[in-house]
Amino acid sequence: MSYVEVFPCSEFSLNVSEIAPDKSISHRSAMFSMLASGTSTINNFLRAEDTLSTLEIVKNLGAVVVDDGVTITIESDGIKESENILDCGNAGTGMRLFCGLLSSANGHFILTGDEYLRRRPMKRVTAPLRDIGAKLDGRKDAELAPLSIRGASLKAFNYESKIASAQVKSAMILAALRADGTCTYTEPELSRDHTERMLKGMGADIEVDGLKTTISPMKELLSPLTIRVPADPSSAFFFAVAAAITPNSSIVLEGITLNETRIGAFRALERMGANISYDLISDKYEPIGNISVKYAPLKAITVEENISWLIDELPVLSIAFACAEGTSIVRNAQELRVKESDRISTVVNGLVACGIEVSEYKDGYTVKGGSLKSATVDSDGDHRIAMSFIIAGLRCGMKVTDLDCINTSFPNFFELLQRVTKVRFYRKNIL
Ligand code: S3P
Repeated sequence: MSYVEVFPCSEFSLNVSEIAPDKSISHRSAMFSMLASGTSTINNFLRAEDTLSTLEIVKNLGAVVVDDGVTITIESDGIKESENILDCGNAGTGMRLFCGLLSSANGHFILTGDEYLRRRPMKRVTAPLRDIGAKLDGRKDAELAPLSIRGASLKAFNYESKIASAQVKSAMILAALRADGTCTYTEPELSRDHTERMLKGMGADIEVDGLKTTISPMKELLSPLTIRVPADPSSAFFFAVAAAITPNSSIVLEGITLNETRIGAFRALERMGANISYDLISDKYEPIGNISVKYAPLKAITVEENISWLIDELPVLSIAFACAEGTSIVRNAQELRVKESDRISTVVNGLVACGIEVSEYKDGYTVKGGSLKSATVDSDGDHRIAMSFIIAGLRCGMKVTDLDCINTSFPNFFELLQRVTKVRFYRKNIL
């Protein structure tokens, strides 16, 4: 097994323009191109395992994808049945959104994923889709992949979701576009809204009123997308925390989406005392700009509202909690248990290994700020756990095992990390 040793860093001041492109927007740009007539043009598509799996599936569904290494163009003449099994890799977003997209497509489709994805819950999309007529099946009555889908006609719906999940919302919006009447989808708290923004930008009839989204079925194909994918705030946030926990350090993270549903973790770090400013540069589909983060002593906070706005960043935000004065509290975050790993237990176990006092709840945990100690932490195959404990290593040194998962979202993570500290890679078993 491979592992990395990260050494404590000293103060730094950096501008970073190469943060990995946004994963959520990259998945959607590839999939939504299949709903357009004409050629969609995507710049800065995330070339990481998760999103390349989605792009491969889009090709398998008959789209013509041309990639010159910089720009990707996608032209589709309707979704076609594939002779191949569609492999979503590690990507929950890929699998759940394809369920919505393929439920009404002509043909039979099989979706699968890696060993981690095949353990993740799918009923949150398969159940509401079945309720409107989708012919979906899978292990444990469509809870677990592989999933099979036979395209069918879908009924109009008014669905009130119990979870604030952009994946569920997006799957249902994609289904609604081909349902037999106007549909509404209501969520308990606003989750990330890229699907609504992008599809509206392509001409879909979608109205958002607070937590309720009204979707009219497509009368014709949509206009093609022309998009430059912004940098991913959840990837940028690793380096935001790096600056926030390193005395006298600062970083400017360039070209990030400033969508409020995505920068909840930056807002939380601000509440902890870090010096953060936002500089809006452009606004097409999404507000995009630079985020500057400067070190300041951190204090504990409670995080219990709008959890989906920072759900992906909670693991590395917890490293900031460990460096803050006082006890930070995370509640209403039960969704963490069904991410790439059970992130409540992977975060808690990792912090305990680093000598930090924590308490674990069903829906969250507390972290008492203290002195992080060097340890060996296993990522459990979860990219965000691997990168979070590597960032902790900037304070105290750290060994982190099982690193390949980082390629699912942030292939140039180590290249950027090496601007901050010394990193040594090993390829043998140390456990
Ligand atoms: C995503 C939504 C979130 C997030 C995931 C990406 C998306 O998941 O955690 O990394 O692109 O829609 P949920 O919708 O399950 O909360």
